[in-house]
Amino acid sequence: EKGGYDHFMEKEINEQPQSIKSALAGRIENGYPTIKELDSIKDFIKNDLEKIYIVACGTSYHAGYSMKYFVEAYSNINISLEVASEFRYMNPHVDDKTLVIAVSQSGETIDTLEGIRLAKQKGAHVLAMSNVVGSTIPRESHSVVYMNTGPEIGVAATKTYTAQISILYAIAAQIMNWKGYYTEEVKKIISELELIPDIYKEILSKKDHILELAREYTHYKHMMFIGRGFGYTASLEGALKLKEISYINANGYQAGELKHGPIALLDESFPVFAIVPFNGLREKMISNIMEVKARKARVIAISTKGDEKIKKITNEYIEVPKTSEAISPLTVAPVTQLFAYYVAILRNLDPDKPRNLAKSVTVE
Ligand code: F6R
Repeated sequence: EKGGYDHFMEKEINEQPQSIKSALAGRIENGYPTIKELDSIKDFIKNDLEKIYIVACGTSYHAGYSMKYFVEAYSNINISLEVASEFRYMNPHVDDKTLVIAVSQSGETIDTLEGIRLAKQKGAHVLAMSNVVGSTIPRESHSVVYMNTGPEIGVAATKTYTAQISILYAIAAQIMNWKGYYTEEVKKIISELELIPDIYKEILSKKDHILELAREYTHYKHMMFIGRGFGYTASLEGALKLKEISYINANGYQAGELKHGPIALLDESFPVFAIVPFNGLREKMISNIMEVKARKARVIAISTKGDEKIKKITNEYIEVPKTSEAISPLTVAPVTQLFAYYVAILRNLDPDKPRNLAKSVTVE
């Protein structure tokens, strides 16, 4: 059942060229999103929608973070994001002009479920996104988009995360299209989504390089992930994957926040993963990398192919194919997933059964 792999996590990471393809099947055509599940709310989106609120936990929240950055970068649509356990106890400003998107792989996370119950009471339209047909969150929502990635057994979310980002981008694009924001740039990003299966084949073919790298880092107690923009959302997920299965203390920070506190942690015992974006923020990241190096911390960069400058100034360099920046959380994900996986197995830990964690969190 593990298809020749040692662990479900390894199988699911390697399945991503196919799982993304099935997640997007019939949902993008000629650079345009075609999400049929949204057709019934087309009028609501066109005429009434004033605000989107994404509600989720853990990895699903990180996928939502990328969607928020995407919508903000390419439209004037008002979009908020909240961790479900906060959302349900605050006074979220949602009403009948709000679309609440509940992102939950399992469809059973109690905080997300209670979040949508609250949103419904306040009159919002609730759209669920889940990988489990007939689970509670989709059943209690007004609309549902299923992820169609096939079941995920490993406790650490991998293929569902990349499917979530892909489908959330397609949903975002459909909304932007109906709201009159479908620029050439948005179209290009949506077209690039269709290239992800091939890009993943290429990244996964270099997994031995990531295994060798992981070998050098298994004995560290702490690691930090830094990025800006879409690189920041990728940092959050990279750090979560590493901490949950390898038990290395890892956190993701906005690179610009380093000097507001986290930099005090850094010395030679504290390596830093720098996710370097592919646009104007690259120069800012270079300054951040120099600050990190000045504290003698080792730097592992994930950047785009052929970035000689980044290669020269960092200790380790992992390259991914160049895409639009919005796509970068997707290109970075298999790298940080494989890194976390290899560190865990090199530490003799079972990545499929991390301590204290459950696949479906049905208690508060
Ligand atoms: C991390 C992980 C968790 C889940 C979180 C939400 O690898 O799996 O952080 O993402 O518990 O779960 P769902 O998406 O089922 O609501």
